[in-house]
Amino acid sequence: MKKITIAIDGFSSTGKSTMAKQLAEKLEYIYVDSGAMYRAVTLYAMQQKLISKNKFEKQKLISALDKINLEFKFNSRLGYGEIYLNNVNVESEIRSLVVSNFVSKIAEVSEVRKKLVKQQQLIGANKGVVMDGRDIGTVVFPDAELKFFITASANIRAKRRFDELTKKGDKVSFEEIFKNVKDRDYIDSTREDSPLIKASDAIEIDNSNLSLEEQFDKIYKITLEKIKSINS
Ligand code: CDP
Repeated sequence: MKKITIAIDGFSSTGKSTMAKQLAEKLEYIYVDSGAMYRAVTLYAMQQKLISKNKFEKQKLISALDKINLEFKFNSRLGYGEIYLNNVNVESEIRSLVVSNFVSKIAEVSEVRKKLVKQQQLIGANKGVVMDGRDIGTVVFPDAELKFFITASANIRAKRRFDELTKKGDKVSFEEIFKNVKDRDYIDSTREDSPLIKASDAIEIDNSNLSLEEQFDKIYKITLEKIKSINS
């Protein structure tokens, strides 16, 4: 059975990662959360005090890129790879709102994108991969056999992210999450390098009113059809 490449792009907090993880598990494909890589670079910049509310030392970050080593190490209990920044597991730390507040500024930097895209392409070189992000179907794997573009209303997305973070015990307000979701949508869609846009051959899914189960059934059905047609 020939394996394919599946790209899942879309706005923040649309549940792309959940969808991509479930799909990879079911197909026994590798799952890659490309956003985790941008988040880990952001965490590095924060740790090195290169970015804060009022400053961003972009050139210093660019010069330090060689010192940033990112790896996904498979966690069999979770069933997917967790991200390591210079050998430290940062999977949980990178999900905080502080990291979310800076990540889109970091993701605008072309040198950062170049480094991460190269690594993403290497991971997916043998196909059998489900990768989620913003530019997977347009830049990382423009030839992916299957591309999804996920949308949902900003209000619903913010509510999902708010529930996720408060469940973890983070002290956040709905208003600040909503603002972060809107701000990132804007920066991600308007940046010059690899903006978030729907690839012309992507299948758009608005999951505002779909349960996790319904959305999974929908994409799984489409995926099986695609794999079948490629193998026939
Ligand atoms: O989980 P959520 O959808 O909120 O975001 P994410 O997938 O973790 O990505 C975090 C941020 O990284 C995005 O808002 C983008 O600024 C950036 N990103 C990107 O530029 N390109 C990607 N392929 C993935 C993420």
